[in-house]
Amino acid sequence: MSVSGGGRLPAALDAAMTALNASVHIDSALWREDIAGSIAHARGLARIGVLSDEEAQQIVAGLQQIAGEIERGEFHWDVDKEDVHMNIESRLTALVPAGAKLHTGRSRNDQIATDLRLWARRRAAELEQALLELAGVLLRRAEEHLDLLMPAYTHLQRAQPSRVSHHLMAWQELLWRDLGRLRDAARRLNESPLGAGAVAGSGFALDRAGVASELGFERPMRNSLDATASRDFLMELGSALAILAVHLSRIGEELVIWSTEEFGFVRLSDRFTTSSSMMPQKKNPDVAELVRGRAARVIGDAVSLLVLEKSLSFGYGRDLQEDKPPIFAAAESVLVCVRALSGAIDSMTFNAARLRAALGAGHMCATDVADQLVKLGVPFRNAHHTVGALVRRAEELGVQIDQLPRSEVRAIHPELTEELIDSMFSVEAAVERRQGIGGPARVRVQEAIADARVRWGLSE
Ligand code: ARG
Repeated sequence: MSVSGGGRLPAALDAAMTALNASVHIDSALWREDIAGSIAHARGLARIGVLSDEEAQQIVAGLQQIAGEIERGEFHWDVDKEDVHMNIESRLTALVPAGAKLHTGRSRNDQIATDLRLWARRRAAELEQALLELAGVLLRRAEEHLDLLMPAYTHLQRAQPSRVSHHLMAWQELLWRDLGRLRDAARRLNESPLGAGAVAGSGFALDRAGVASELGFERPMRNSLDATASRDFLMELGSALAILAVHLSRIGEELVIWSTEEFGFVRLSDRFTTSSSMMPQKKNPDVAELVRGRAARVIGDAVSLLVLEKSLSFGYGRDLQEDKPPIFAAAESVLVCVRALSGAIDSMTFNAARLRAALGAGHMCATDVADQLVKLGVPFRNAHHTVGALVRRAEELGVQIDQLPRSEVRAIHPELTEELIDSMFSVEAAVERRQGIGGPARVRVQEAIADARVRWGLSE
């Protein structure tokens, strides 16, 4: 029989209702937080004289014993006791009679809100750590490949010469903002619902501030209705995770493209790829595809959290029990993806010959040829037109513009010297010219890496 009916509803729940109602198979993941919250609550009750010091000590010891039982896998989770709260409380009461006093001035509504905030804070810190590791990998690889050039693409068409490090550092920038979103969400959610009770607080003079500070919260939540009925902290964390997952999917997509036979820019380690059960020659970029695919689920999780709370009246509604599967899944998905990508990027190898071939010289420098004409006094629009004609001519001959007969190149401007022509066709020179803030010139990328090391707190 479900215990939650208590004296009011002594009849057993219908089996179908139990299946819908019980959440212990999911919320038992919150046991650490639930026990921490109960310990803080028990001590708070002792401070206001609701529990004697001895009772509080017995309760704390009982809760610590339960934590050990759960950790060792000895705890019996009972679906008839519905959720993590009732399972732990009923075991506590069996161990310590004073356990029956623990729920004084408390409701499962403020209890679950507290557990979730503690959980979200802990997971955000783990995610931060994983992101830090991924950033460290990107910075290290960017440093290693500082001199490796590659095309920069727009519309997935070769656009301008750039460097591999500049590209890796672009990924790092996305992740840096993701870190900011996670930290911001974690900071904002760090308030204590305990003492809000079911909806309108408690008649006991609970030490809300003391309990909040014992749990490492910044302050007690200011409004008991809000404290128990709001889950925007999960929408926020879920949204930050969805954005992060989308970013990981973009990195994944690039790794898929780069590891094709057609591009051949990188080779993923065997530890992150699989072969085909049918085609023995295959080496599939599974890690990148799975990360790309997993983002779909994380987006779905964020949407679930938004829709769950949409139009929900105040205060607590049981709908809110459904917040756990999506946020648990989103956090786990993103952690797994960040860690797998870290390993894949850490262990992949770049193919310098293929990157060089993709640069293909010539056309890649078309902007630089136009810029050279501008320096000789030609308005940019006219220069653009002239170089466009040069590219068309090269395509007629089936060559890159740097392979055109020099006489045809020189003909585009009377002041073009051999030296100027060589420089405007050189991809190295083209990248080095891009010295502006945020550009791919070697010195700028070196600075970007150094700056990122400081921001992420990653020493060399
Ligand atoms: N299992 C509930 C949840 O996850 C806890 C609060 C239940 N409150 C209640 N009145 N039934 O939201």
